[in-house]
Amino acid sequence: MNNYQDVLSEVLIDASTLQKRVKELGEQISRDYAGANLLLICILRGGVPFLVDLSRSITIPHMMDFMAVSSYGIGKRESSGSARVTLDLQMDIRDKDVLLVEDIIDSGHTISSVLQMLETRRPRSLKVCALLDKPERREADVSIHYLGFTIPNRFVFGYGLDLDEFHRNLPFVGVVDLTKYNPHP
Ligand code: IMP
Ligand code: MG
Repeated sequence: MNNYQDVLSEVLIDASTLQKRVKELGEQISRDYAGANLLLICILRGGVPFLVDLSRSITIPHMMDFMAVSSYGIGKRESSGSARVTLDLQMDIRDKDVLLVEDIIDSGHTISSVLQMLETRRPRSLKVCALLDKPERREADVSIHYLGFTIPNRFVFGYGLDLDEFHRNLPFVGVVDLTKYNPHP
């Protein structure tokens, strides 16, 4: 895999800007969910760094659980509602206040099929918290209740987002230079 320095075109959101915004979201969620039965659901794998930092900035008691859904490759994606669960939750979400934690909402298909599926399990409430939103690419209609940043239609990586599974660990969000990126060096 390429070293990230070789494929980074620019840092879009630096580490301190990310941390500051995640802290604000945590404070807002702590206020909005005071007295609630809050369960954060992280969608693997991209949501992990965001979930960890967000959870630590939430000052009210809450639970967390994890799920994974299949993603169809670019050009192969099925229509809305077709994402398949590859790892299901451990917890029963009935009567819980569920907040889905996602790295990025792109076409919106992934989150809308997860929402449809979880809705059938009768949570008390079901909302979405996304770090990034790429509205130009939207195909499915989704409400994002808590949002970190709106970004332009560029392919980004870092802070959970991967380049062919690498570089999720970076503390910033960067734009890929597609002219330099070689997925199979
Ligand atoms: P959606 O179903 O098109 O909204 O896809 C969302 C998923 O695609 C995210 O959870 C990411 O895993 C992935 N994704 C979308 N845009 C990017 C990007 O710019 N960088 C890395 N992953 C992305
Ligand atoms: Mg993802």
